[in-house]
Amino acid sequence: MSGESGKALTREQWGSRVGFILAAAGSAIGLGNVWRFPYLVGEYGGAIFVLIYLLINVFIGLPVMLAEFSIGRAAQKSPVGAFRALSVSPLWSVIGWLGTLTGGFLVLSYYNVIGGWTIRYMIESLIGLMDLAAEGKSEEFFLSFISVRHQVVAYQALFLASTMFFVASGIGKGIERACKFMMPALFIILLILIFRSLTLPGAGAGLEFYLMPDLSKLNGKSVLAALGQSFFSLSLGLGIMLTYGSYLGREERIPSAATWTAVLDTLIALLSGFAIFPAVFAMGLKPGAGPGLTFITLPAVFAEMPMGMFFSFLFFLFLFFAAVTSSMSLMEVSTTFAIEKFKLKRSDAVWLMGVIIFLLGGYSAISLAGDPKVAGKDFLDAVDYFCNNICLPLGSFLVCLFVGWFWLEPALKELSNDGTLEARWWLKVWIWCVRVVAPIAILIIFLNETGLLTTLDAWLSR
Ligand code: PFF
Repeated sequence: MSGESGKALTREQWGSRVGFILAAAGSAIGLGNVWRFPYLVGEYGGAIFVLIYLLINVFIGLPVMLAEFSIGRAAQKSPVGAFRALSVSPLWSVIGWLGTLTGGFLVLSYYNVIGGWTIRYMIESLIGLMDLAAEGKSEEFFLSFISVRHQVVAYQALFLASTMFFVASGIGKGIERACKFMMPALFIILLILIFRSLTLPGAGAGLEFYLMPDLSKLNGKSVLAALGQSFFSLSLGLGIMLTYGSYLGREERIPSAATWTAVLDTLIALLSGFAIFPAVFAMGLKPGAGPGLTFITLPAVFAEMPMGMFFSFLFFLFLFFAAVTSSMSLMEVSTTFAIEKFKLKRSDAVWLMGVIIFLLGGYSAISLAGDPKVAGKDFLDAVDYFCNNICLPLGSFLVCLFVGWFWLEPALKELSNDGTLEARWWLKVWIWCVRVVAPIAILIIFLNETGLLTTLDAWLSR
């Protein structure tokens, strides 16, 4: 046994399977479920988007997650090292680099901005938010908040500082453990919200929007958005789930851990939609309001509830923690990178990366007031688009190619725990998904949306 694999055996492992699922779900469940999913559903035509999203989660998202967990557990390393260790060609470690730059810097930079909103809303819940929302002014409140740059930046800084503190002090694990209670609490408040939302007069139109697919709304843009959202929400394509997999014990079952993570994540997203859309229609708000949708709609629902202030505060508090466990998983990537690359102490690495991420995120924060813009989008939207519609699909595409075509046998061993788990039909389905369905689907969706498919078609039919 080489020294390296000897070391690998002593790598710290999750205490239990539940601990592992909680950590992976902690990274997966966050703003993506409560903030991003509903506003995309609203923007891309409702139920049809939900349907495509679910199909993508099952046939692309889950298979990619299984692949990332397998690579991680087999290599027992962080992404760049894992691809180096498992493949003969150093080219595959590009996936690790892509993940580090995209996740550890770009995604994290604007994630902090939205995370900051949760803090502002938590505080405002206790002061004037409910009164404003009761007067139908929650949209006005949101728009005036994001137009005051120094406020958005201040809350961004506060959220980033919390993430940095948890990552640097090593109490991140404690926070993850605390989420054992907070996630169910978030879940319960969501259920209460759904009840209130569904019982508002006129809620039916919202349910119809959310549940009755309108095929005419289907287009390349919505499919690409659903694809990106699947990867974003499940934390895929950045090597993060790969890293989590590297801490998974040999006797644990990857398929059940991945399925649990994906199901919990999807459930929270779907529930958020049930809380939001009936209320949007009942209150005459706009489903296509964009990134503010959740923050505009939910205070209005809380204002219609007994003890609304209390529930609103708790909701944004739990959402803050859900967001922090996700941003911790992202910050871990940049921190590890700085520790390894520049041989820094953990706390110094967190400081250095924190400053860079703050500056980068600052552009996103101030862009909400109108500029800077990139290609006609707010800077925040542009970074979000670039990460979710280009980098994450690309990372996942490469993971599928690697596992499906160059590393299939070892992956099957990982997934079946060296053949001790009964190899059932799902392994065959997984092989198809990871070799054929996922890579081809990602490629077509991507080429179609970027216009390259039309160019290719024109070229071929010359
Ligand atoms: N999955 C997180 C969410 O839905 O909020 C965000 C995220 C975390 C994306 C980690 C990507 C990632 F690697």
